[in-house]
Amino acid sequence: MKVDSITIRRPDDWHLHVRQGDRMRSVVPFTARQFARAIIMPNTKPFILTVDDAARYRDEILAAVPSGVDFTPLMTLYLQTTTSPKTIRAAKKSGFIHGIKMYPQGATTNSEGGVVRIQDVAEQLGVMEEVDMPLLVHGEVADPACDIFEREPAFYREAFEWVTGKFPKLRIVFEHITTEEAVHWISEASRTLRIGATITPQHLLVNRNYLLSGGIKPHAYCLPILKTEFDRKALVYAATSGDPRFFLGTDSAPHPQHGEAGTAKETACGCAGAYNAHAAVERYLEVFDSVGKMDYLQDFASHFGPKFYELPLNNGKVTFIREAWQAPPSYTFGDSTVVPFMQEVPLQWRMAA
Ligand code: NCD
Ligand code: ZN
Repeated sequence: MKVDSITIRRPDDWHLHVRQGDRMRSVVPFTARQFARAIIMPNTKPFILTVDDAARYRDEILAAVPSGVDFTPLMTLYLQTTTSPKTIRAAKKSGFIHGIKMYPQGATTNSEGGVVRIQDVAEQLGVMEEVDMPLLVHGEVADPACDIFEREPAFYREAFEWVTGKFPKLRIVFEHITTEEAVHWISEASRTLRIGATITPQHLLVNRNYLLSGGIKPHAYCLPILKTEFDRKALVYAATSGDPRFFLGTDSAPHPQHGEAGTAKETACGCAGAYNAHAAVERYLEVFDSVGKMDYLQDFASHFGPKFYELPLNNGKVTFIREAWQAPPSYTFGDSTVVPFMQEVPLQWRMAA
């Protein structure tokens, strides 16, 4: 049956980039409007390496939340081979740091401080397992010789059994999964493992044809890169399956529209990241609606994430109405502008005020 409105428990975003300074102040209100909490990625410049860094960053984000809006940033640290056991223990004790993020060096935006191989941080992972600090993983190999469309499967083949076998009690989130193969590794894993996976709206909505055919679309270029229709269908199946290991993480990753090559989107070397915070739940709704699984959205968006992170469910509710609208060509982004993902495609749902 076609419904014209849906009300769900207020959701959380389990993978979000908000950047810094005026740019951060431009985007935080959009996320805070629909989500009660968000896992804030630490790949800022400088990276978020210590509890003090995270505390400062958290205060800056909180100051950007409009008054009267209830929003809690859930902080993370950036994992390096030099991250000390002391820092991991202090992060756990802080109460506001909810994960430590592993970037393969060179795999994505601001990942040059990351690790070459996950095996290089075995000592840190042992301490994280001991204190029960979740590991958040960018699941791609960093090998520049590996084909860009194969980097995710290569990571799962190389690292999944190693990390889950060596650290069976470690909570791990495989971030922004993009392939049927990743879905398979996670779905088939032992239920005794404490693993989860986030899925973005971009990987649920479109495949690499959208990115590359009929003109290249810089605002749909994100990492891991969009994959095939076969992969997209597997992700939709996982997200709408009711399996609690798959939950919402937008990976909204704003970059300025214009600027120097390597630092902006519409340049000779456009950077990776899709911005979707202007209408994140609305885009997920299109996916769940398209397969007749609207009833499963609340679990994916509002229940499975808190269950994994061992946090309480949110109290409020949000309502979305079936109503077509078009996002503006761009939004203010500090000193620049940011173009939303799929801007040219009208949205089908609107959040009720
Ligand atoms: C992210 C960013 O811009 O920070 N980019 C992206 O394409 N997803 C980093 C990341 O999550 O890989
Ligand atoms: Zn990300």
